[in-house]
Amino acid sequence: MSSSDQIESLLKEGRVFEPNPDFAAQAHVKSAAEREELTRAAREDPEKFWAGIAGDLHWFEPWSEVLEWKVPFAKWFVGGKTNIAYNCIDRHCESWRRNKAAIIWEGEPGDSRVLTFADLQREVSKCANVLKGMGVEKGDRVGVYMPMIPELAITILACARIGATHSVVFGGFSSDALRDRMNDAEAKVVVTADGGFRRGGVVDLKVNVDKAIDECPTVESVLVVRRTDSKVAWKEGRDVWWHDRMAEADDVCPAEPLDAEHPLFILYTSGTTGKPKGVVHTTGGYMVHTYATSRWVFDLKDEDTYFCSADIGWVTGHSYLVYGILANGATSVMYEGAPNYPEPDRFWQIIDKYGVSIFYTAPTAIRSFIKWGSEWPRKYRLDRLRLLGTVGEPINPEAWMWYHREIGHERCPIVDTWWQTETGGILVTPFPGATPTKPGSATLPIPGLEMEVVDKDGNKVGANQGGFLVIRRPWPGMMRTIYKDPERFKQQYWSQVEGSYFTGDGARQDEDGYFWIMGRVDDVMNVSGHRLGTMEVESALVGHEAVAEAAVVGRPDEVTGQAIEAFVSLEGHHQASDELAEELRKHVAKEIGSFAKPAKIRFADALPKTRSGKIMRRLLRDIASGKETVGDTTTLEDLSVLAKLRDDEE
Ligand code: WTA
Repeated sequence: MSSSDQIESLLKEGRVFEPNPDFAAQAHVKSAAEREELTRAAREDPEKFWAGIAGDLHWFEPWSEVLEWKVPFAKWFVGGKTNIAYNCIDRHCESWRRNKAAIIWEGEPGDSRVLTFADLQREVSKCANVLKGMGVEKGDRVGVYMPMIPELAITILACARIGATHSVVFGGFSSDALRDRMNDAEAKVVVTADGGFRRGGVVDLKVNVDKAIDECPTVESVLVVRRTDSKVAWKEGRDVWWHDRMAEADDVCPAEPLDAEHPLFILYTSGTTGKPKGVVHTTGGYMVHTYATSRWVFDLKDEDTYFCSADIGWVTGHSYLVYGILANGATSVMYEGAPNYPEPDRFWQIIDKYGVSIFYTAPTAIRSFIKWGSEWPRKYRLDRLRLLGTVGEPINPEAWMWYHREIGHERCPIVDTWWQTETGGILVTPFPGATPTKPGSATLPIPGLEMEVVDKDGNKVGANQGGFLVIRRPWPGMMRTIYKDPERFKQQYWSQVEGSYFTGDGARQDEDGYFWIMGRVDDVMNVSGHRLGTMEVESALVGHEAVAEAAVVGRPDEVTGQAIEAFVSLEGHHQASDELAEELRKHVAKEIGSFAKPAKIRFADALPKTRSGKIMRRLLRDIASGKETVGDTTTLEDLSVLAKLRDDEE
């Protein structure tokens, strides 16, 4: 399906699903009127509104001011002292939840562990003491490059407990990508594992760490969890085993009272340049935002078993597998491996086995489930499910309907949640007991959020007109800056439309005020829900000696949302060949990670450019998506001719 087909079908979508009355009756927010009342209160006095929610949580010292706003720099809960790990763990250990499951974990080989809140308190405290013993102090950065095992959640919570800023790098990134991020963050310690299990094989994380850390002067030591029992190289004096240190560590480590604006984590994300941005989130506002949205959107109750299939290497795992969910005292299910290992029914098996009641996943995963066939979920009892969610990319109405029918059995509301690494938490979403849903629309902004669709001059456009999605006022979970680069933060997010936050997404608002997200309007791709910059892949390609120039575009793909297609011109003495195409794909995997491998490489004598020398991306996108017929050869010699025909358009 091409993107214009997708937009076309979204424009035609007219179905409305009213909240299920049984669901609504028991929900935290029970009706549209109740949601409107929250929205009204938040609009009238946003500071009072957010302060009211913050009051549910534990603060060592109260704030003196809810919001200090010096565009574009926000401070929330100024002067307040709190600790997010305390609110996710200790707060519950003071209640009957002490022996309630906090994390239910399943490894890919089928092993399983359950950690109660009290277990988590002990493990996190031990880990915090281990990190301290390695010289980690409040304010230091700790790099985390791990498989989806409980130790990953324990590590980030331990950092939060002592005020070390964690920077998790998704385990699918290459050693080069890890090196660049660790150097930018100036990490003191890296926590990793010997390896992780994925699709029946072993991912050698420690090998990548060894390669990366050789070129990371700030990293003093590496803490290694034994997971796969793989043979690993060992550097005495630098590498230490997790199990050795944990065995000796004291299991008491009180949570440090931290300033509300103390940096909680840095998470690198792709932008429009070749260099990923270190998105900085702080403690108090992020905690309040993820806590509140987890409650409104997932309607968390003490009886729930919640399963988010995202990796903690991405923001969804930070906010809605760990922080927001545990802050509510809910049980979070964590799975290590692939959804189709050993068979394409693994998620349904997990949902059946643990009695999952809330399931949060990505549209790209749903499209894979559809491809694998409805017979897989039909083998399992999914009757404990009561709520479904999606995140990461626009969901096409067909996928929405399949999810509704085959997984939700037409009983479960679906929450399509729009947000970004930068926003910290969910911003546009249905409330499951309150908001009528329309397949393909993320519906309405959360209370307190002023969001608009505008033209390039920043003027609000009319109903059903497309434009840029912007936010007019600060919200608690918003990113505070780009690490070490406040100028770039200002320029990239707050100067496109003066004084407003620019999301980089295109959208329209329908006659009911519902938002329909149309996807990125900048050079950012979304491949299987993974965010990637075209420039990042281009700079990886031109780093190869055979490549003179490269242009990368995302083309629509039925399963992955977008697929990467690269147009490459070669240095004089190199010849285009299938072997070279394969070599270039491998080169990108080495530079960034396998998930960034172009689906297709097309060689061209020269890349088409406008008179002013800009690469004609729109033409390349049309070629990649088959709208411009150039034959299906991988070598395009006549691009310059096409370019001449189109020169005036770009
Ligand atoms: C896209 C993921 C449509 C969007 C949490 C955004 C969505 C980017 C949705 C952020 C949705 C996310 N509907 N598009 N429900 N959710 N997106 O930083 O383009 O990995 O800008 O954060 O994903 O991706 P990121």
